Amino acid sequence: RFSVVPTAPPDAILGLTDAFNADTNPNKMNLSVGVYKDATGQTPVLQSVKAAEQKLLSNEKTKGYLSIGGLQDYCDHVRTLAFGDQVPAERVAVLQTPGGTGALRVAADFLKTQLPGAKVWIPTPTWDNHRAIFDAALLPNDGYRYLAADRTSLDLDAMVADLREKASPGDTVLLHGCCHNPTGIDPTAEQWKVIADVIAERRLLPLIDFAYQGFGDGLEADAVGLRTVMDRVDEAMVCTSFSKNFGLYSERVGAVSLVAAQASEAAAANSQLKRMVRTNYSNPPRHGGAIVATILSDPELTAIWKSELDTMRNRITQLRQQFVETMKTTGAGHDFSFLLPQKGMFSYSGLTPMQVDELKQKYGIYIVGSGRINVAGMSESNMQSLCDAVASVLEG
Ligand code: LMR
Repeated sequence: RFSVVPTAPPDAILGLTDAFNADTNPNKMNLSVGVYKDATGQTPVLQSVKAAEQKLLSNEKTKGYLSIGGLQDYCDHVRTLAFGDQVPAERVAVLQTPGGTGALRVAADFLKTQLPGAKVWIPTPTWDNHRAIFDAALLPNDGYRYLAADRTSLDLDAMVADLREKASPGDTVLLHGCCHNPTGIDPTAEQWKVIADVIAERRLLPLIDFAYQGFGDGLEADAVGLRTVMDRVDEAMVCTSFSKNFGLYSERVGAVSLVAAQASEAAAANSQLKRMVRTNYSNPPRHGGAIVATILSDPELTAIWKSELDTMRNRITQLRQQFVETMKTTGAGHDFSFLLPQKGMFSYSGLTPMQVDELKQKYGIYIVGSGRINVAGMSESNMQSLCDAVASVLEG
């Protein structure tokens, strides 16, 4: 019977790492999946994480199940990192989830079952997995315009027009809290106010994907968009990921938060979110959440973590600048300065799918089909060869 099962296409992002691993080119570079690498090419375990793990290992008493919603102190920290003290705790339901993807899927199942008929509006472009997750949950979705025709800036007017004219009251709008994936192009503080006003005016539900807090301008600065929206609305959902900012990729550490207008509504929504979890993965894994809770409950470990996060962010900024400068020396005659204001791990290079393919075939350089380059995967030692290869495909 399995003879009828067709082969699925490889995943647009993770499939590239499989192809990269199979590539025998000794000079290959993986600039696809959003994973931070240090100057030695490693994705390090943060010192704050190692210290927290040592504490956990010596104090661990049980491997018993967590509750469906996960660790309470972890969930409290998730709420504080995202909202500060902007929203009273009793109006927020937070559940620990396996990564940001787990959070998005729980949110999608919740929206599909509890707000039937509502559509989710997602930016064009967006992270390749957004649409796939919503499709898998049978949640109707459609795109709103985000990237301007010059492919280097936000088209705020088009975004606002789509949210105003195409989205219906009650629909959900997916926003990237910071470090828009794949473009790195975020709204300014002023633009966030305009977006927040439209969301409030049209009675849309914001669903904020918050996977890169601390990778743009800093932990608090990166929450400005989310908090500007929360100033205008009393209902929202947020999907948090700690894969990048704690370097906990494989531990799958995330959370879904739901803000309701009333504490009683938050409690009811929480009970439904738990049903979604129970029929999906039952309850979350402990270890990653326990690491984050241990760090954030300890002022010394928190200080170490914050400085490690600053180091990662500053390194990415430097690599982005170095890429722009090195491209100038290649004689390709293509100015990449537009990458400089982009935020987060990614640079939206403007390379076409054909050029992306040529980089892979000729040079073993893997970037995502949209032209998204993981800047955090570049290194000082491979910068020149990367830029030479990019220059050569640009010259065609
Ligand atoms: C990415 O966009 O590369 C990351 O969010 C990793 C992933 O799961 O796709």
